[in-house]
Amino acid sequence: MATESTFSDSVDSAFYKPADEFFALNSTTGLTYDDVSLATLYSDILPRETDLETCLAENLRLRIPIVSADMDTVTESRMAIAMALSGGLGLIHYNMPEREQLSEVSRVKYHVQGLIQEPIKVGPDQLIGDVLALVEEKNFSFSTFPVVDGQNHLIGLLPGHVLKQRYATKKVCEAMTPRAALHTLKQEELDSDPISGADRFFTEHLGIHKLLVVDNEDRLRGLFTLSDVERITQERRAQLKPARDQKFRLVCGAAVSATRNSTGELDKERIGAHVGALVERGVDVVAVSTAHGHSKGVGETVRLIRSMFPELPIIAGNVTSGAGVEFLAECGANAIKVGQGPGSICTTRIVAGVGIPQLTALYVASRAAAKKGVRIIADGGITKSGDIVKALTLADAVICGGLLAGCPEAPGQIMEINGKLYKQYRGMGSLAAMKAGSAARYGHSTKDAARKVAAEGVEALKEVSASIDTVLTQLVGGIQSGMGYLGAGNLNQLRTKARLIRVTPAGQKESAPHDVIEVKTGGTGGS
Ligand code: XMP
Repeated sequence: MATESTFSDSVDSAFYKPADEFFALNSTTGLTYDDVSLATLYSDILPRETDLETCLAENLRLRIPIVSADMDTVTESRMAIAMALSGGLGLIHYNMPEREQLSEVSRVKYHVQGLIQEPIKVGPDQLIGDVLALVEEKNFSFSTFPVVDGQNHLIGLLPGHVLKQRYATKKVCEAMTPRAALHTLKQEELDSDPISGADRFFTEHLGIHKLLVVDNEDRLRGLFTLSDVERITQERRAQLKPARDQKFRLVCGAAVSATRNSTGELDKERIGAHVGALVERGVDVVAVSTAHGHSKGVGETVRLIRSMFPELPIIAGNVTSGAGVEFLAECGANAIKVGQGPGSICTTRIVAGVGIPQLTALYVASRAAAKKGVRIIADGGITKSGDIVKALTLADAVICGGLLAGCPEAPGQIMEINGKLYKQYRGMGSLAAMKAGSAARYGHSTKDAARKVAAEGVEALKEVSASIDTVLTQLVGGIQSGMGYLGAGNLNQLRTKARLIRVTPAGQKESAPHDVIEVKTGGTGGS
């Protein structure tokens, strides 16, 4: 079967260049995603057959190369759970007390999909009227409640059909189904696939819609509901599969900062103790996240963590130079975050006048990374799936902030402005975020942040978007489509096959919808 002829080979290669040649020809110009386009190549690969698996460290594999940013308006446990369920990774931010970050990591690591770990409970002496008031006040969409004593021992289940005004003065213990009549599962019997177990239970027990989980002392530890299990079983047939650790738990990352003590010295004891506690909770990777990773403090922090936890995957950054990549690799990082100023909420380039357009930075970093045998992650500036395809021709994964900040899984309240729904999205270098704790990331102390320092990020809004699995499905569809055009079956092939060409402003205009009145936008994939 004919693939490419020698003639077109020579014509094509005069215009469409592999990264080494392309960036050498453009060595004095900083380029970013929209400045280039990728040439199509002969393909016998269907998009749906492409494999997006990526490896950020020997013991950290993701099914899709997308990471949610360690920002306080992007990643807490809910986002990290959703990211891992779709095969990616969430980095839990550090703008919170250390104890709280540990709990956030635990929530992800102990998330049993479908198991409600902290169900709303009632006491035996409460009145039905009180429970009714609680349902109304909290707007609960469910009406069945486990009944427990003061030590959380399971003593019954209050079924929804007794929650009626006519029984308002009766006690819960008079109306509940007693413990002896309840179906329960021991916590230790939850195996590596608890949903299939619960699914089988509901099939075998006609008409039962709740399965309670207890520990060896008969204390309530969770609840499965038939509707959740049915929804999850259906979702399992979905395209994106979860990213899990070796114990079948969801993967989770946490950001740590180069914390200093009151004398300005690196607080080694505190950093070591906190990372140790994260490791105990099962964290899969820590990210030493700062605006300037090629610096003494970040290097010392990475060295410290590496010496204390030889097996722990470490992400560090951010840098935009080969020297920066080599420095962090030598300190012990496995994956280096690349990006200074490309982020949608960043003002570093305006405020400090530094930073490199993202694609050139990725190329430079990728060459140093190849030499050192480390991975790189493209951080910031991703606005559409096409940008991810371009980033992945040089990097092993991408970090997204703005693209995910409008999802319901991101922290923060939804607000309505002129009939449209928004969520807050702010730079970690914005004054508000620095006051909340991220000042160290930008080389300031939190005390400084309360006074006046130069903010390097803005506070903004994002329109509320679909949930993470929908957004990621669209992004993954776009990446797979790009790989199909290049005949790349996996990310390694994408990196070696990519051929680039520069695009002029007229070419950029041509790349987006033009000369039409758009009635429907193309979603996160772009046009
Ligand atoms: P996107 O474009 O995905 O970028 O919204 C997210 C990334 O931006 C970085 N970041 C900042 N950079 N000032 C900066 O210069 C800031 O205030 C700021 N906050 C976040 C960060 O790398 C993130 O992953």
